[in-house]
Amino acid sequence: MSSADIRESTIVSMNPTERLLRSCRGEPVDRPPVWLMRQAGRYLPEYRRVREGVTFQQMCRDVDRAVEVSLQPIDLVGTEAVIMFSDIFTPIPGMGIDVDFDPGPIIADPIHSLEQVEKLRDPDPRDSVPFVFEIIRTLRAELEGPKLPLLGFAGAPFTIAAYLVEGRGSKEFTKLKRMMYREPDVLRALLAKLTDNVVAYLNAQIEAGAQVVQLFDTWAGLLAPADYREWILPIHREVVSRVNRADAPLILYVNNGAHVFDEMLESGADVLSLDWRMEMATAARRADGRASLQGNLDPGALHQSREQIFRAVRRIAEAAAPARGHILNLGHGCSPETPVEGVRAFTDAARALGSSGERK
Ligand code: CP3
Repeated sequence: MSSADIRESTIVSMNPTERLLRSCRGEPVDRPPVWLMRQAGRYLPEYRRVREGVTFQQMCRDVDRAVEVSLQPIDLVGTEAVIMFSDIFTPIPGMGIDVDFDPGPIIADPIHSLEQVEKLRDPDPRDSVPFVFEIIRTLRAELEGPKLPLLGFAGAPFTIAAYLVEGRGSKEFTKLKRMMYREPDVLRALLAKLTDNVVAYLNAQIEAGAQVVQLFDTWAGLLAPADYREWILPIHREVVSRVNRADAPLILYVNNGAHVFDEMLESGADVLSLDWRMEMATAARRADGRASLQGNLDPGALHQSREQIFRAVRRIAEAAAPARGHILNLGHGCSPETPVEGVRAFTDAARALGSSGERK
């Protein structure tokens, strides 16, 4: 057997875990792997049934329920990776901050002073949120048979800080920006605490069995490039360098981040997850082999016909072909209005890419 034959046979026998890990690291694959952000959620009637009678937070702490809804999208919509069911706010009460949901996070006592930041706890996540690691261990055992990969995740320090300062979701996060410009020391102290917390949390997830981790920096795109460079990039670099990426590659997601794509590249993340405002072909060219790419269909496009979704997926995959690796995903999460048939068409379209021949 020549080395080309050996390479060919590894490619042909690829399972979903190998496909995802190889794509993250920029190694050859038969076709792009596929999963969706927020693939477990209210658009699925089966999720709503498990969610009946409990609050969202209770569900995140309930290992059986969390495992069940994490696994639902495999059969219901054909996803090829599982993301543990949880929320970016799950580890935050362990720091001494009260969080409620309605439906987004609400902070009882928003942060405005250095004194509050100094009082925040720095717990070992294995003690403060042991159920998260129980969920991960249980999921890994369940996924052994089908060889599906398991993703863990955390909210990035800036996005968590945005809610902690603002008190709740917002369009512009004006309190956060006022703090950034008028009391930078308070925000810097808060971000430093959150960074330690996120690193410990992700490493504990990897230790428990997460095979890939995604850092959600949903609100980082609110900043101008110069501010992003000052406030966000150093944090991303720190997380990238302190997370155990030899055991689990790291995906960095920034919503609304087309204007900071070069800065995202400088983070050193293995994969950059893009929203739909950035043209995939442009990203693939600018990445120039330095990172794999994930994305980037507009979740709204899942309302199209099956045929249109197949066409859109083919277009994204072709545009991403020059990238060193590509993971098919949406540009943001599924919403409660997302049509189940659209999600199914999306994952079927990814599988169909494999039948049209070999692709790097
Ligand atoms: O991707 C997945 O399937 C895993 C689960 C997951 C959830 N939230 C479940 C969830 C993940 C990865 C998140 C991340 C998250 N949570 C982010 C970053 C990604 C993004 O969407 O931008 C943010 C900003 C949050 C904070 C949050 N949690 C908001 C704003 C909301 C309300 C909006 C909504 O969709 O309801 C939540 C609640 C939430 N998180 C739900 C789910 C399934 C809905 C809870 C319910 O059942 O009522």
